Amino acid sequence: MANTILIGAQWGDEGKGKIIDVLTARADIVVRSQGGNNAGHTVIHRGVKYILHLIPSGILRRGKICVIGNGVVIDPVTLVAEIDRLRELGITIERNLLISDCAHLVLPYHRLLDEQRELRRGKIGTTKRGIGPAYADKAARTGLRMSDLMQPMVFSKKLQAKVLENNRILQALGARPISFRDVNESYLAAGEKLRPFVANTVVYLHRALARGKEILFEGAQGTFLDIDHGTYPYVTSSNTTAGGACTGTGVPPHRVGRVVGVMKAYTTRVGEGPLPTEDRQLAETFHNRGREFGATTGRKRRCGWFDAVATRYATMINGIDELAITNLDGLDHVDPIRVCVAYWLNEKRLDVPPCDAAQLANCEPIYEEVRGWNRPTGSAKKFSQLPPAAKAYVKYISKLTGAKLSMISVGPTRGETIIL
Ligand code: IMP
Ligand code: MG
Repeated sequence: MANTILIGAQWGDEGKGKIIDVLTARADIVVRSQGGNNAGHTVIHRGVKYILHLIPSGILRRGKICVIGNGVVIDPVTLVAEIDRLRELGITIERNLLISDCAHLVLPYHRLLDEQRELRRGKIGTTKRGIGPAYADKAARTGLRMSDLMQPMVFSKKLQAKVLENNRILQALGARPISFRDVNESYLAAGEKLRPFVANTVVYLHRALARGKEILFEGAQGTFLDIDHGTYPYVTSSNTTAGGACTGTGVPPHRVGRVVGVMKAYTTRVGEGPLPTEDRQLAETFHNRGREFGATTGRKRRCGWFDAVATRYATMINGIDELAITNLDGLDHVDPIRVCVAYWLNEKRLDVPPCDAAQLANCEPIYEEVRGWNRPTGSAKKFSQLPPAAKAYVKYISKLTGAKLSMISVGPTRGETIIL
């Protein structure tokens, strides 16, 4: 397998966790390059459901090395909790996990600032994990990193100044200030637990590449949550598109051999922001069937029809070579099925989404209607075993998207995957 970037082609929650798990079988190393514990990657492994937030999903397979790259923002306390939880479930976490010393830290004031901003009008609908404020500190060159945490004296000194500064801001916003001592203590304790895993992951990855090892880059969130290419400001604060895999790990672009885009057979989004094909009735159908609740926050996801304008654009900016279509089974009893092929905006037909979120919100989808299949697809092991209308549907949406179809997921477990 070539070094592969796996990317979400929509608004996150495309089912990347499961596809990563399937692809991990052929990789040596699985790397996260951006985001933080805002992500929630669900994998069902031997009948147990795991929701991974910071640790790459590859951790569930023996013999795979997992790397949290420099582009990720890490809340050390929750990372330790995630490691402990996995260990309780019998997963080995020893020399199979590496954490970049350059990764930035998420601190309690980031979380509180995130929460405060979410109380305002015009909120983003974030996961309130402090991700935006942590990346803002990184860009402002005032962030603390894993390497600071590995030097307790350095960490405490920097933290003290940051707590002082942020407490002023928190107080001005009417929030309670935080205690330097408490944070210092809990973070240093978490830091000691993480110390065995902290390394120069850039060098590690390059040495591994030189030995012919193959890397799978596990994208988090999705294309339209990208800070540059997404529906700004209703985005997350990292580059969720393919380029982020390189900056977030130190692996150069020419070492990437393939980009796999994951997309649902329909569309979902959590949080605020435009979603042109949103359909409340479709959402109700999914929610009544117990589908489409957020893995991190438990929020009901907003749902809509497949949006080919968006996925075509995602194919372009990520350079998607292959497509994995997930949740096909979600449409098993939906008939007819609508597919958005273009938008109307101010009496013009658009084939690409406008950059402005307000304009995108005003776009009227132009739909094509196709027949549903009205029977379960979950037991199909091969493409030929899918109902004819389901085959036609996946072919149609991949053609509109403009990339080669390589995988279809018809259920949450590893086995419920059709590989073409
Ligand atoms: P933040 O990343 O917590 O700042 O949230 C910013 C936006 O990205 C919000 O709309 C979130 O709902 C969304 N978001 C963040 N992480 C994920 C994810 O893993 N899946 C889906 N949406 C996400
Ligand atoms: Mg998710």
